[in-house]
Amino acid sequence: MPVTAVVGAQWGDEGKGKITDLLAQEADVVIRYQGGNNAGHTVVNQHGTFKLHLVPSGIFNPSALCIVGPGMVVNLEVLCEELANLEAHGISTANLRVSDRAHLLMPWHTLLDRLDERERGRQKLGTTGQGVGPAYADKVARHGIQVYEVRDERRFRARVAHELETKNKVIERFGDAPLDAIAVADRVLRAAATLGDRIADTLPLVEHAVRTDARVLLEGQLGAMRDLDWGIYPYVTSSNPLAGGASIGAGIPARCITKVIGVVKAYSTAVGEGPFPTEMKGRDGDALREMANEYGATTGRPRRVGWFDAVAARHAHRLNAFTEIAVTKLDVLGAYETIPFCVAYELDGRRTTDMPPTQVLERATPIYETCTGWRTALDSVGDRAHLPAEARQYLAKIEQTVGAPIGMVGIGPERAAILL
Ligand code: IMP
Repeated sequence: MPVTAVVGAQWGDEGKGKITDLLAQEADVVIRYQGGNNAGHTVVNQHGTFKLHLVPSGIFNPSALCIVGPGMVVNLEVLCEELANLEAHGISTANLRVSDRAHLLMPWHTLLDRLDERERGRQKLGTTGQGVGPAYADKVARHGIQVYEVRDERRFRARVAHELETKNKVIERFGDAPLDAIAVADRVLRAAATLGDRIADTLPLVEHAVRTDARVLLEGQLGAMRDLDWGIYPYVTSSNPLAGGASIGAGIPARCITKVIGVVKAYSTAVGEGPFPTEMKGRDGDALREMANEYGATTGRPRRVGWFDAVAARHAHRLNAFTEIAVTKLDVLGAYETIPFCVAYELDGRRTTDMPPTQVLERATPIYETCTGWRTALDSVGDRAHLPAEARQYLAKIEQTVGAPIGMVGIGPERAAILL
């Protein structure tokens, strides 16, 4: 490994959970470095099917240390519920640590996220409504509350009351009921007490891991197209899913990240608003969505679906310098006789493989090449060399257009259904 970042190379939901779950089996430390419970990593393993929102996928490896990193915004109540569910399935959460520098996602953030979306009306962003944007906004505006602050109850209560003075004015202006400072502080303090000494300074742990060449896995949420700086702003999340974000968000010096795995689906999906050039609408889109069960893990929203977009994945590679790509859900494309593959965009009469800014991207039309389908199930394939020739050609096309070699290939939901 030693320090490997697993990042999304599309719009999110690329199947990173599946890849990190596999790699986490061999990891000593697994760190989530950005985002909050907007994430929904679906993990299928011998314990069952789990939708992880805040907890790193390494939780299924009893010897891995799992860190909710300082770059995250953490809803402590949601975290406690998630831990309780894992414990109920017999999975120990004793090895989890929550960075005391992470920011608290407070009940007002969730409320303000929904109010903000309502206020935007037709221009809504399509957020997950979990409060992630407002929590990061407070962090940047220096109104955030860090996790360690729960340790001083009196001061914490005062902070909550103070923040709510202004937040409640906004909430009431929207016609909603104000939040009660005592009740809010009680809820968060109760959750913090449940976590106990799992709230910790994680830097010494991470530093020790790096110094001793431990295998560290950095688990990203979402994908490059939803990166705050490089995605389709404003239809982005409020943090940096790119590998660059992993350094700050996990507390790992940038030069210590040795491997970056970019995860792509063999086609494209997106939840939320914003341009999506290769989107399939109507019946074709519905058919793919149903066949591949493309519904959001956090919100249950139907995902928008489309063909593979090499411009988007190449954009992600330019920003992440993938040492390898992992392709997921290749099996799904077995249903098609021919598969359109977007190699470039046409923009104002010009062909380009550069990713334009959002408003310009709205005008781009995909230029497709047609790949031949393989028309067979892949369940019995145990080796990449035994994939049908057309499937291998499809993978070669991804490598050639994105510019990075393919390492892993997912051909089914189970942990075993990954060709290495
Ligand atoms: P937020 O992160 O909830 O603020 O949402 C911002 C954008 O990112 C919206 O388009 C969401 O649909 C999208 N988004 C957030 N989390 C996920 C995820 O885990 N998978 C896919 N899309 C997501």
